[in-house]
Amino acid sequence: MKKIIFCSLAIIIGFASCKDDDDGTVANPGEDLTGIPYETTPHTLAIPPGLPSMEIPADNPLTVEGIELGRRLFYDPILSKDSTISCASCHNLRYSFNDPKAISPGVGGLLGNRSSMSLINVGFQVKGLFWDGRSQTLEEQALHPVENPVEMAEIWENVEVKLQRHADYQKRFRQAFGIENSLEITKELAAKALAQFERTLISANSRYDKKRWQLDPNPFLLSDLEVDGQKIFYDDLLGSPGAPTGHCAHCHDGGALYTSEVYRNNAITEVATLNDFPDKGLGAITGNLTDNGMFKSTSLRNIALTAPYMHDGRFQTLEEVVEHYNSGGHYADNVVTLSIQPLNLTEYDKQALLAFLHTLTDTTYYTNPAFRNPFE
Ligand code: HEC
Ligand code: HEC
Repeated sequence: MKKIIFCSLAIIIGFASCKDDDDGTVANPGEDLTGIPYETTPHTLAIPPGLPSMEIPADNPLTVEGIELGRRLFYDPILSKDSTISCASCHNLRYSFNDPKAISPGVGGLLGNRSSMSLINVGFQVKGLFWDGRSQTLEEQALHPVENPVEMAEIWENVEVKLQRHADYQKRFRQAFGIENSLEITKELAAKALAQFERTLISANSRYDKKRWQLDPNPFLLSDLEVDGQKIFYDDLLGSPGAPTGHCAHCHDGGALYTSEVYRNNAITEVATLNDFPDKGLGAITGNLTDNGMFKSTSLRNIALTAPYMHDGRFQTLEEVVEHYNSGGHYADNVVTLSIQPLNLTEYDKQALLAFLHTLTDTTYYTNPAFRNPFE
């Protein structure tokens, strides 16, 4: 209390700043920052074999300072209305930046209708973000969660004020973007920093990557069961005549991305007509009836870590997912029956496919200190 009175007094009589001695975070909103050096350090991404090059917007080059600021914002509940929810609440490093809950609760425990998504390798995605592809860039996407009532339930003006009077963020926005006054801290800059951090979330070190991109010469990296599963996954694309087919790679290829980034109806929902999908997915964005029930064919990297599955988290296990595809699912006019049809896999085939899906797990990324919560 004493401190509040002192600080108010200090501001009235014109002290340049009034810092909170306890945590060093409270500062004047309109702080002149030109005394803090501004010299960014460019950051070059190391792109592992199998991944495409990453498109980086010309007005948001990666810098060490920008990435670190983005990491802090990502893990900081300051972005939410009551300081309870950060991006990491629903995008948890341990689960490939996904969430083990089917639907992740936002502020006040409110629930939306979609399952969270893995952010690993998200910077390589060029055909839209979200399950319905409605967002085109990471910069634009990062603006949404703050104002989503079932996520962070805050308004950006408030977040801007909170950041503008936060001494550490004043310094970091200056160092990352060269602003001269803390009032220049905006949602656009916060989104740029978040996008920079997200572009660094790269993983391509699973057992299958090691084999496919010849990172490890060991000929026994995959068991016979896993190799049989690989053949089912890639079927004709790998040239394995006679092997049972899963057609998975028609939609989940893309080299080391394990997504072809296509929007499809993978026949998980039984509907009488294309108008009846409880969540229209892509169709709600484009307005085209034939896009109803279409969702992004998400990446299968680290898929064993990101249960439950699908846009609404309906399948608890990979076993259930494989049963779904094996059954051929529910026919609708916009299901591409060339790829989604009864597969007639034997028990052995199903075990092989499951074993292969597990070889896409890379556990090395979550020990990467650069991805961790900086406040712990
Ligand atoms: C309450 C949970 C929650 C919070 C908090 C949250 N997200 Fe998400 N995130 C989701 C859900 C659910 C989706 C899928 C939503 C959809 O498709 O409509 C998603 C999707 C995304 C995607 C799209 C990924 C892809 O592959 O298309 C990105 C990127 C993302 N979130 C980043 C963030 C960032 C950055 C923050 C913090 C500013 C954040 N999220 C906060 C739940 C959350
Ligand atoms: C015609 C395209 C297509 C084919 C073929 C296909 N998938 Fe999918 N897959 C999708 C789409 C689209 C989604 C997201 C659907 C949704 O959530 O509504 C998806 C989702 C998944 C998911 C859940 C992803 C997550 O993040 O929750 C898994 C696992 C999966 N597919 C595995 C497979 C396997 C294994 C095969 C082969 C047996 C396969 N898929 C064949 C299009 C396809």
